Amino acid sequence: MTTTDSKIGLDAIEHASIDELRSLQLSRLKNSLQHAYQNSSAYKEKFDRHGVHPDDLKSLEDLAKFPFTVKSDLRDNYPFGFFAKSMDDIVRVHASSGTTGQPTVVGYTQNDIDTWANVVARSIYAAGGRKQDKVHISYGYGLFTGGLGAHYGAEKLGCTVIPMSGGQTAKQVQLIHDFDPDLIMVTPSYMLNIADEMERQGIDPKKLALRCGIFGAEPWSNAMRSEIEQRMDIDAVDIYGLSEVMGPGVAQECIESKDGPVIWEDHFYPEIINPNTGELVADGEQGELVFTSLTKEAMPIIRYRTRDLTRLLPPTSRSMRRMDKITGRSDDMLIIRGVNVFPTQIEEQLLSIKELSPHYHISIAKQGNLDRLTLQVEAKQAADTNSQLLMKNLQHKIKSYIGISCQIEVVAPMTLKRSEGKASRVTDNR
Ligand code: DLL
Repeated sequence: MTTTDSKIGLDAIEHASIDELRSLQLSRLKNSLQHAYQNSSAYKEKFDRHGVHPDDLKSLEDLAKFPFTVKSDLRDNYPFGFFAKSMDDIVRVHASSGTTGQPTVVGYTQNDIDTWANVVARSIYAAGGRKQDKVHISYGYGLFTGGLGAHYGAEKLGCTVIPMSGGQTAKQVQLIHDFDPDLIMVTPSYMLNIADEMERQGIDPKKLALRCGIFGAEPWSNAMRSEIEQRMDIDAVDIYGLSEVMGPGVAQECIESKDGPVIWEDHFYPEIINPNTGELVADGEQGELVFTSLTKEAMPIIRYRTRDLTRLLPPTSRSMRRMDKITGRSDDMLIIRGVNVFPTQIEEQLLSIKELSPHYHISIAKQGNLDRLTLQVEAKQAADTNSQLLMKNLQHKIKSYIGISCQIEVVAPMTLKRSEGKASRVTDNR
């Protein structure tokens, strides 16, 4: 880790005063805008078209004068057009596949890789990880940022890394049993798949050393947190990030407060906007999360629209602001007969019924002019398969809390497809 002081193990900036933090952010933001403007033709063109210049930024609030960057900007400059450093200085690329085929490519200099490792090390530390711990990593290694991002951070903290990657679920369980790691880093949906496999192999998670899971890369509700914590007898904390901004470790929830990920604001400056108008909204109000990188070299990112919906919350365990759990991405929002619905809202309702498992799938179809949502959810016990009582109970909860009518199928245990990374929760056939 970088500079530490009296608060053992924390970077000094994690408990700096607000004035110190804002002043660091302002000087870094000025540099970041200059760097983007001078070294990336894509940004120069964008700023010129918008009639703004980096010198126009005198305060953090002035950032609102600058244009947004969206995913299609990166695609239009595929593969390397957004890089602000020559290929000589780029030591790594990652890419996210997306749904449309053309991947979004991101690049890193050696300093970027070091910064990334530092923020992930800081994240693991905030989750209670220490250098003597063994960390089992089941995020996929490769172009996805999850595996390598977690890996370099855990190594930086001095942990013993078990670089398992995703898949080979039976082997995951064998290694968790034999190596007895203290921490696991994995998507929450894959954690559940691993837990099922443990049960199949007759391994009692409560007897393992595992004490904390660092879960992210997909939306998950607080109800899912409780489900995983009870089943695995661990603490479950949230890690957030996206490849365009860095990868995992843009924000991390602290284990002592479990009150939403702390945004590592000394590297990533957050704003929340109204997704329809692009106007800034006040802290505490729900909207779309927008990030500006403050220290990135290879690919500075200015006002990147993440499409993730959340709100900014005041600092608690650290000096930096937190984000609320992501409700979902604006592109994942389902509009069912005019009502906006996120899969995580349905997840919360089904997990409030103890006989139902966290394995579910949502399908949407048109019936005449009407949208029809069918929810398949697994019963925990085979005896509850097709239970009319459970079905009616869940239907009622979804109607009263979310406001939509839906068709529910309570299916037998172990029938729905399991995730090995990011879960796919919805099939939209409209
Ligand atoms: O998913 C980076 C990552 C890896 C984060 C491992 C955490 C752990 P991408 O593949 O670019 O990067 O996907 C980024 O995933 O915009 C969110 O929609 C979603 N996401 C990531 N973390 C969370 C989270 C990685 N904790 C996209 N909660 C983001 C909810 C998350 N959604």
